[in-house]
Amino acid sequence: MIYSEKVMDHFANPRNVGEIPDADGVGEVGNAKCGDIMKMYIKVNDGIITDVKFKTFGCGAAVATSSMATELIKGKPIEEALKLTNKAVVEALDGLPAVKLHCSVLAEQAMKAALADYYKRQGVDPALIIGDLGASDVCEI
Ligand code: FES
Repeated sequence: MIYSEKVMDHFANPRNVGEIPDADGVGEVGNAKCGDIMKMYIKVNDGIITDVKFKTFGCGAAVATSSMATELIKGKPIEEALKLTNKAVVEALDGLPAVKLHCSVLAEQAMKAALADYYKRQGVDPALIIGDLGASDVCEI
């Protein structure tokens, strides 16, 4: 299996690993295809995601995609994070082998779950803003 240099870099040196004890939103999801687990924490200030961290019991591709996803949403408005798809994350990593695309779904879903949790804590129904919490599916297996 061939991985891009960016995937290898984010796998070997994942950014934003850990947890945020006083997070404003926490999302935990499992991957239906492999059973792996991802947990994401976000800190929000004035509609901006000021900090984001993740922890995963997942494969290298899940680590790399989550690492890239956290980099892409850190410092960005919530609205922008909501638009981030797993496809965009995979593109930012210069691609993933087709059999590993399902791993990138984990990062997107954990991020959306953390945002949904944030909205819930604000007393807002997340379904009104995020809609279907399912990730855009680019999985080919
Ligand atoms: Fe489970 Fe990649 S094999 S997340």
